[in-house]
Amino acid sequence: MKSKMYLTSLLTASTIAVSLLMSSSVSAKEYFTIKNGELERPSGFREWIYVGAPLTPDDMNNGKANFPEFHNVYIDPESWDHWKETGKFREGTVLIKEMVSVGTKSASSGKGYFMGKFMGLEATIKSKREFPDEPGNWAYFSFSTEDHKSLKKATKAEPTASCNACHDAAAEDDFVFTQYYPILKAGKANPEKAVGGEW
Ligand code: HEC
Repeated sequence: MKSKMYLTSLLTASTIAVSLLMSSSVSAKEYFTIKNGELERPSGFREWIYVGAPLTPDDMNNGKANFPEFHNVYIDPESWDHWKETGKFREGTVLIKEMVSVGTKSASSGKGYFMGKFMGLEATIKSKREFPDEPGNWAYFSFSTEDHKSLKKATKAEPTASCNACHDAAAEDDFVFTQYYPILKAGKANPEKAVGGEW
Protein backbone atom coordinates (compact mmCIF):
# COMPACT_ATOMS: atom_id res chain seq x y z
CA MET A 1 0.00 0.00 0.00
CA LYS A 2 2.70 2.37 1.10
CA SER A 3 4.76 1.62 -1.96
CA LYS A 4 1.71 2.21 -4.18
CA MET A 5 1.17 5.65 -2.65
CA TYR A 6 4.86 6.37 -3.05
CA LEU A 7 4.68 5.40 -6.70
CA THR A 8 1.62 7.58 -7.30
CA SER A 9 3.21 10.66 -5.76
CA LEU A 10 6.41 10.00 -7.64
CA LEU A 11 4.44 9.83 -10.88
CA THR A 12 2.54 13.03 -10.03
CA ALA A 13 5.78 14.83 -9.21
CA SER A 14 7.41 13.76 -12.43
CA THR A 15 4.33 14.74 -14.45
CA ILE A 16 4.46 18.21 -12.91
CA ALA A 17 8.21 18.44 -13.58
CA VAL A 18 7.79 17.43 -17.21
CA SER A 19 4.94 19.88 -17.82
CA LEU A 20 6.89 22.69 -16.14
CA LEU A 21 9.88 21.90 -18.31
CA MET A 22 7.70 21.86 -21.42
CA SER A 23 5.95 25.12 -20.63
CA SER A 24 9.22 26.90 -19.87
CA SER A 25 10.81 25.68 -23.07
CA VAL A 26 7.72 26.76 -25.04
CA SER A 27 7.58 30.22 -23.47
CA ALA A 28 11.31 30.72 -24.07
CA LYS A 29 10.99 30.30 -27.82
CA GLU A 30 12.90 33.01 -29.62
CA TYR A 31 12.27 34.29 -33.11
CA PHE A 32 15.69 35.73 -33.84
CA THR A 33 19.27 34.59 -34.39
CA ILE A 34 22.33 36.69 -33.73
CA LYS A 35 25.64 35.40 -35.11
CA ASN A 36 28.98 37.20 -34.81
CA GLY A 37 27.20 40.32 -33.58
CA GLU A 38 24.81 40.45 -36.56
CA LEU A 39 21.08 39.76 -36.63
CA GLU A 40 20.11 37.33 -39.37
CA ARG A 41 17.23 38.63 -41.46
CA PRO A 42 14.07 37.20 -39.86
CA SER A 43 11.80 35.16 -42.11
CA GLY A 44 8.23 33.94 -41.84
CA PHE A 45 7.08 37.14 -40.13
CA ARG A 46 4.13 37.68 -42.49
CA GLU A 47 2.61 34.76 -40.62
CA TRP A 48 3.06 36.49 -37.26
CA ILE A 49 0.54 38.90 -35.76
CA TYR A 50 0.01 42.03 -37.81
CA VAL A 51 -0.56 45.07 -35.56
CA GLY A 52 -0.88 48.13 -37.78
CA ALA A 53 0.34 50.12 -40.79
CA PRO A 54 1.35 53.76 -40.17
CA LEU A 55 1.93 55.98 -43.20
CA THR A 56 3.48 59.45 -43.49
CA PRO A 57 3.12 60.18 -47.20
CA ASP A 58 5.33 62.64 -49.11
CA ASP A 59 2.44 64.87 -50.13
CA MET A 60 1.48 65.55 -46.51
CA ASN A 61 5.11 66.34 -45.60
CA ASN A 62 6.21 69.11 -47.96
CA GLY A 63 6.82 66.58 -50.73
CA LYS A 64 9.60 64.79 -48.87
CA ALA A 65 8.67 62.69 -45.84
CA ASN A 66 11.45 61.08 -43.81
CA PHE A 67 9.66 57.73 -44.04
CA PRO A 68 7.27 58.04 -47.02
CA GLU A 69 6.19 54.38 -47.18
CA PHE A 70 3.62 52.24 -45.41
CA HIS A 71 5.02 50.53 -42.30
CA ASN A 72 3.50 47.11 -41.89
CA VAL A 73 4.25 46.10 -38.31
CA TYR A 74 4.26 42.54 -36.95
CA ILE A 75 4.96 40.96 -33.54
CA ASP A 76 6.12 37.37 -33.00
CA PRO A 77 3.39 35.02 -31.72
CA GLU A 78 4.89 34.19 -28.30
CA SER A 79 5.34 37.87 -27.50
CA TRP A 80 1.76 38.52 -28.62
CA ASP A 81 0.56 35.87 -26.15
CA HIS A 82 2.61 37.48 -23.40
CA TRP A 83 1.31 40.96 -24.29
CA LYS A 84 -2.30 39.75 -24.15
CA GLU A 85 -1.74 38.21 -20.73
CA THR A 86 0.45 40.84 -19.08
CA GLY A 87 0.40 44.05 -21.15
CA LYS A 88 4.23 43.87 -21.27
CA PHE A 89 6.81 43.12 -23.91
CA ARG A 90 8.65 39.95 -22.90
CA GLU A 91 12.37 39.22 -23.01
CA GLY A 92 12.95 38.25 -26.65
CA THR A 93 10.15 40.33 -28.22
CA VAL A 94 10.66 40.89 -31.95
CA LEU A 95 8.79 43.62 -33.83
CA ILE A 96 9.19 43.84 -37.57
CA LYS A 97 8.49 46.84 -39.74
CA GLU A 98 8.17 45.94 -43.39
CA MET A 99 8.14 48.98 -45.63
CA VAL A 100 5.88 49.13 -48.66
CA SER A 101 5.85 52.04 -51.10
CA VAL A 102 2.77 54.09 -51.87
CA GLY A 103 1.58 52.69 -55.19
CA THR A 104 -1.46 54.02 -56.93
CA LYS A 105 -3.48 56.82 -55.39
CA SER A 106 -6.77 55.90 -56.83
CA ALA A 107 -8.93 52.83 -56.84
CA SER A 108 -12.51 52.01 -57.70
CA SER A 109 -13.31 52.84 -54.05
CA GLY A 110 -11.97 56.38 -54.38
CA LYS A 111 -8.75 58.43 -54.12
CA GLY A 112 -6.29 57.45 -51.43
CA TYR A 113 -3.04 55.66 -50.67
CA PHE A 114 -2.69 52.08 -51.81
CA MET A 115 0.26 49.79 -51.16
CA GLY A 116 2.80 49.33 -53.94
CA LYS A 117 6.10 47.43 -53.65
CA PHE A 118 8.12 46.04 -50.76
CA MET A 119 11.07 48.36 -50.23
CA GLY A 120 12.67 47.83 -46.83
CA LEU A 121 12.77 45.90 -43.61
CA GLU A 122 13.57 46.96 -40.06
CA ALA A 123 13.37 45.19 -36.73
CA THR A 124 13.58 45.91 -33.06
CA ILE A 125 14.32 43.30 -30.40
CA LYS A 126 14.09 43.49 -26.64
CA SER A 127 16.70 41.32 -24.97
CA LYS A 128 18.49 41.90 -21.71
CA ARG A 129 20.78 38.99 -22.52
CA GLU A 130 21.86 40.37 -25.92
CA PHE A 131 21.59 44.12 -25.34
CA PRO A 132 22.21 44.76 -21.64
CA ASP A 133 23.39 48.34 -22.28
CA GLU A 134 20.66 49.54 -24.66
CA PRO A 135 17.92 51.69 -23.08
CA GLY A 136 15.00 49.38 -22.28
CA ASN A 137 17.17 46.56 -23.72
CA TRP A 138 15.79 47.35 -27.18
CA ALA A 139 18.17 47.22 -30.16
CA TYR A 140 17.24 48.43 -33.67
CA PHE A 141 18.20 46.93 -37.03
CA SER A 142 17.77 47.87 -40.66
CA PHE A 143 18.03 45.38 -43.52
CA SER A 144 17.14 47.99 -46.13
CA THR A 145 19.64 48.82 -48.87
CA GLU A 146 20.17 52.20 -50.46
CA ASP A 147 18.41 51.43 -53.73
CA HIS A 148 15.54 49.67 -51.88
CA LYS A 149 15.70 46.80 -54.36
CA SER A 150 17.11 44.09 -52.11
CA LEU A 151 17.65 43.31 -48.43
CA LYS A 152 20.78 42.56 -46.44
CA LYS A 153 21.11 38.98 -45.18
CA ALA A 154 22.37 40.07 -41.77
CA THR A 155 23.07 43.37 -40.07
CA LYS A 156 24.54 44.93 -36.94
CA ALA A 157 22.47 46.96 -34.48
CA GLU A 158 22.13 50.65 -35.33
CA PRO A 159 23.77 53.16 -32.96
CA THR A 160 21.54 53.94 -29.97
CA ALA A 161 21.27 57.61 -30.91
CA SER A 162 20.01 56.88 -34.46
CA CYS A 163 16.91 54.95 -33.49
CA ASN A 164 16.45 54.21 -29.82
CA ALA A 165 16.45 57.86 -28.70
CA CYS A 166 13.41 58.86 -30.78
CA HIS A 167 11.49 55.79 -29.66
CA ASP A 168 12.38 56.59 -26.05
CA ALA A 169 11.10 60.14 -26.41
CA ALA A 170 7.74 59.57 -28.09
CA ALA A 171 6.57 55.95 -27.94
CA GLU A 172 3.72 55.12 -25.60
CA ASP A 173 4.66 51.70 -24.26
CA ASP A 174 8.22 50.62 -23.48
CA PHE A 175 9.78 52.22 -26.61
CA VAL A 176 7.03 50.83 -28.87
CA PHE A 177 4.57 53.13 -30.67
CA THR A 178 1.51 51.21 -29.48
CA GLN A 179 -0.54 54.41 -29.88
CA TYR A 180 -0.48 53.74 -33.65
CA TYR A 181 -1.17 50.00 -33.50
CA PRO A 182 -4.86 49.47 -32.69
CA ILE A 183 -4.39 45.72 -32.40
CA LEU A 184 -1.77 46.07 -29.67
CA LYS A 185 -3.84 48.74 -27.95
CA ALA A 186 -6.92 46.54 -27.87
CA GLY A 187 -4.95 43.49 -26.76
CA LYS A 188 -2.97 45.04 -23.93
CA ALA A 189 -3.50 42.72 -20.94
CA ASN A 190 -6.84 41.86 -22.53
CA PRO A 191 -6.98 38.42 -24.15
CA GLU A 192 -10.69 38.74 -24.95
CA LYS A 193 -10.43 41.94 -26.96
CA ALA A 194 -7.11 40.90 -28.48
CA VAL A 195 -8.52 38.33 -30.84
CA GLY A 196 -11.08 40.45 -32.69
CA GLY A 197 -14.84 40.52 -32.83
CA GLU A 198 -15.11 42.94 -29.90
CA TRP A 199 -13.87 46.55 -29.56
C1 HEC B 1 12.13 60.60 -35.69
C2 HEC B 1 11.81 59.52 -34.78
C3 HEC B 1 12.22 58.10 -35.14
C4 HEC B 1 13.48 57.64 -35.45
C5 HEC B 1 14.79 58.41 -35.53
C6 HEC B 1 13.32 56.19 -35.67
N1 HEC B 1 12.02 55.80 -35.49
FE1 HEC B 1 11.29 53.91 -35.63
N2 HEC B 1 9.41 54.63 -35.40
C7 HEC B 1 9.07 55.97 -35.19
C8 HEC B 1 7.60 56.10 -35.18
C9 HEC B 1 6.82 57.41 -34.94
C10 HEC B 1 7.09 54.81 -35.37
C11 HEC B 1 5.62 54.41 -35.46
C12 HEC B 1 4.93 55.12 -36.59
C13 HEC B 1 5.52 54.88 -37.94
O1 HEC B 1 5.97 53.75 -38.25
O2 HEC B 1 5.55 55.83 -38.74
C14 HEC B 1 8.26 53.90 -35.49
C15 HEC B 1 8.16 52.52 -35.60
C16 HEC B 1 9.24 51.66 -35.70
C17 HEC B 1 9.16 50.22 -35.67
C18 HEC B 1 7.92 49.40 -35.40
C19 HEC B 1 7.84 48.98 -33.93
C20 HEC B 1 7.76 50.11 -32.92
O3 HEC B 1 8.70 50.22 -32.10
O4 HEC B 1 6.79 50.91 -32.91
C21 HEC B 1 10.42 49.75 -35.89
C22 HEC B 1 10.85 48.29 -35.98
C23 HEC B 1 11.30 50.89 -36.03
N3 HEC B 1 10.55 52.05 -35.88
C24 HEC B 1 12.64 50.82 -36.29
C25 HEC B 1 13.48 51.93 -36.34
C26 HEC B 1 14.89 51.87 -36.71
C27 HEC B 1 15.64 50.61 -37.12
C28 HEC B 1 15.37 53.15 -36.64
C29 HEC B 1 16.78 53.62 -36.89
C30 HEC B 1 17.33 53.33 -38.18
C31 HEC B 1 14.26 54.00 -36.23
N4 HEC B 1 13.13 53.23 -36.06
C32 HEC B 1 14.37 55.37 -36.01
C33 HEC B 1 9.93 57.00 -35.00
C34 HEC B 1 11.31 56.95 -35.20
